[in-house]
Amino acid sequence: MTRINELASISEEKSSITRIFGTAAFRESSRKVLEWMNEAGLKTSIDNIGNIKGMLPGSDPQAKTLVIASHIDTVRNAGKFDGPLGVLMGLDLLEEIIKTKKQFPFHILLVAFSDEEGVRFHTTYLGSKVLAGSFEKDLLNKKDDQKISLQQVITEMGGNGEKIFADCLPPDQWLGYFEIHIEQGPVLYENDIPVALVTSIAGQIRVELKFRGIAGHAGTVPMNMRQDALCAAADFILELEKFAGSNSNNVVATVGKLHITHAASNTIPAEVVCSLDLRSADENSLSYSSEQIQLFCESIGRKRDINIEWKLIQQTKPVICDDNMSEQLEHSIRNAGYPVLKLVSGAGHDGVAVSVVSPVAMLFVKCYKGISHNPLENVELKDIAAAIKVSDNFIAGFKE
Ligand code: GLV
Ligand code: MN
Ligand code: MN
Repeated sequence: MTRINELASISEEKSSITRIFGTAAFRESSRKVLEWMNEAGLKTSIDNIGNIKGMLPGSDPQAKTLVIASHIDTVRNAGKFDGPLGVLMGLDLLEEIIKTKKQFPFHILLVAFSDEEGVRFHTTYLGSKVLAGSFEKDLLNKKDDQKISLQQVITEMGGNGEKIFADCLPPDQWLGYFEIHIEQGPVLYENDIPVALVTSIAGQIRVELKFRGIAGHAGTVPMNMRQDALCAAADFILELEKFAGSNSNNVVATVGKLHITHAASNTIPAEVVCSLDLRSADENSLSYSSEQIQLFCESIGRKRDINIEWKLIQQTKPVICDDNMSEQLEHSIRNAGYPVLKLVSGAGHDGVAVSVVSPVAMLFVKCYKGISHNPLENVELKDIAAAIKVSDNFIAGFKE
């Protein structure tokens, strides 16, 4: 908890917790985590995308590697626990293993992923994609809102974009992937249960939408002669809420960003750019909904004489957690004396990117009222202790 608080004090802004990938605050937090891993006695390194890695070698040099990880980047005005909890609990677990001189037949690699939230480049899992070897070269050309490319950010951080492909853990070396994370939903809190077994992680589609109308004078253009891009965007957002709100579609949909180009209170908006985040644990529902949303979006454009550009930014399929690992985690929960609650994760996690090369298991920890991506995010020490007990149990008995 002390470390969680210390990491939370490193922020781009004094009044909030904000550590966007590649910023000075982000780099300071990386150095801190690296220092802690070194102090714990792990063999540390930092890769070209800025992932911080700490290795605990097993007794057999030929053995595979169990990866324990989460992320240390945050959304804007974040809570303290989304990401750091998993990294720092992993550190705590490994520190204890080192202190008690326990030997494992496999290697354990602790990773603090550098970019999970995808705030800067609107595309998630940059860190875990590199470790999984699924990083697409094109991503290096992605630009942030300030037109700085990912390639440039990597260089600024001291990395080399060309060498990023050598930073993966080869597929035959993955024993498994284990992540501890706050639930970010209310089920554990409502049931007063400290931990849950994650069965799957929802798939997501991220889109950038551009609404283009015609700028005009706010005082002179009659209401029925306007091509107002913002009104079209507003129409779309409310239609989207209705669509996702009807339970039959089995999706959640969010517009979290909205930008009016050349905004002025006395100008009719000519261009609006907004984000769309669409999620479902069911792949068919996700693709069907995406098609339906695109259709009503086009119809709003026709009705209002607004040109709408639909640009797919990222698409990930839902991921099912591994049966064998989950069974072992379930036993560990039971052995630690807790009931086994199974949950689907609506939030994205690095396990999605890792699932292409490794079996994945996840443990959720109860958080206050399920609040997350919000400074009110909170986790009680006793629930962290429960999750430590479960995880310690799980790692100690882990078998392929
Ligand atoms: C990360 O928190 C995400 O689910 O977008
Ligand atoms: Mn997270
Ligand atoms: Mn998050």
